[in-house]
Amino acid sequence: MATIDDVAGLARQLPGVTEGERHGNRTWFVARQAFAWERPFTKADLRRFGEQTPPAGPILAVRVEDLGEKEAVLGAHPDAFFTIPHFDGFSAVLIQLEEVSAQAVREAVTDGWLACAPSGPGEPVSQPLSHERGGRPVTWSLEQAYDTYPRIEEEFSAALDESLRPRGPDLLFDLVASLGLAPGSVALDVGCGEGRQAVALHRRFGFRVTGIDPVRRHIEVARAAAGQDGPAFEVGTAGSIPAGAGTADLIWCRDVLVHVPDLPRAYAEFRRVLRPAGHALVYQMFGSELLEPGEAAWLWATMGVVPANADPARTEAAIAAAGLRIDERLEIGSEWGEWAEEHHGSASRKLLHVSRLRRNRAVYLERYGQAAYEMMLGDCLWHVYAMIGKLSRRVYLLSCDRPDL
Ligand SMILES: C[S@@+](CC[C@H](N)C(=O)[O-])C[C@H]1O[C@@H](n2cnc3c(N)ncnc32)[C@H](O)[C@@H]1O
Repeated sequence: MATIDDVAGLARQLPGVTEGERHGNRTWFVARQAFAWERPFTKADLRRFGEQTPPAGPILAVRVEDLGEKEAVLGAHPDAFFTIPHFDGFSAVLIQLEEVSAQAVREAVTDGWLACAPSGPGEPVSQPLSHERGGRPVTWSLEQAYDTYPRIEEEFSAALDESLRPRGPDLLFDLVASLGLAPGSVALDVGCGEGRQAVALHRRFGFRVTGIDPVRRHIEVARAAAGQDGPAFEVGTAGSIPAGAGTADLIWCRDVLVHVPDLPRAYAEFRRVLRPAGHALVYQMFGSELLEPGEAAWLWATMGVVPANADPARTEAAIAAAGLRIDERLEIGSEWGEWAEEHHGSASRKLLHVSRLRRNRAVYLERYGQAAYEMMLGDCLWHVYAMIGKLSRRVYLLSCDRPDL
């Protein structure tokens, strides 16, 4: 048998761990990811147990490496480890602490930590380079540079070839899974584009999803792709959402809010349409202090970004003013870029395209026109800047600050 305090003691011994609270439950984080948390059953969970008696006592959720590992762990500890329909497709297991041995809970907490901790010592977070901090470079003499450096260069490069296990876009679905929303919950994908994520939310979680976007072509493409049983799609904007007050359990808004002309109004709309216990998940790109003013001015104009919206402080002020609370702020930085490079080579492809756009400018201008040329250059630089820290991705998980309002 173990207790939640035992789990806290185990978690505290692991490097880089912080304890916090999510939805009122004690949660342990590493690299800003929850790897273990108290997980009482929701009403929907209890309904789904039906005639069966749910496991009693405190329940702990822990992350596992992947779904294969999940099956293996469940098979190895059938008495204390279990899962629920809500965790389907989510790489985490539940543990009945009253039934688990001290050894098994220690292993599970450590494995959860391993599944979320970045590899290597410490938590890799982007740090400004010395010249970016305005410092002078630490230099070698000519002799040293051609003597010492070659001795370590190969090994150093090999170390850099090792992945830092960056998080990819599926992190957003993991966050949604951690909210514990029941199938049938109402989700709005605000700025849904061609509807891919609306369809994924519907398929993965069984939510009733409506995708909203101001571009008619997006709505038409999304409707055709979703078919009859899929999500609904409607023309609308973040500032004027075609949904009644207090009707949504989840707002999903990925890569949209840089474009909206009135950010405070958009967040006020989110608050209006959310149910009191609802959540909003917002992902967007922000400018960093490394983006030079000239680069920012050109990039924002080309990519249709409202400059103020690229400032995290303005975003957080708008969130607070709308009566929303930040439950989690995940600094993704360059991780998705690394992930995309490691899986698809997409960042280096964008870099190559920037080079070709510059060298063969006249030909592309004549073939595609100036607006298309600039859009392509802007899009390529968007990804390149995100890799080198001039742009930085962030996710906010929000809930209603004053649910009674
Ligand atoms: C970069 S795309 C992201 C699409 C989709 N969310 C995704 O992640 O794949 C930006 C989307 O925001 C939409 N958009 C632009 N202005 C908007 C506004 N004021 N309200 C809602 N959506 C908007 C665009 O039409 C476009 O579909």
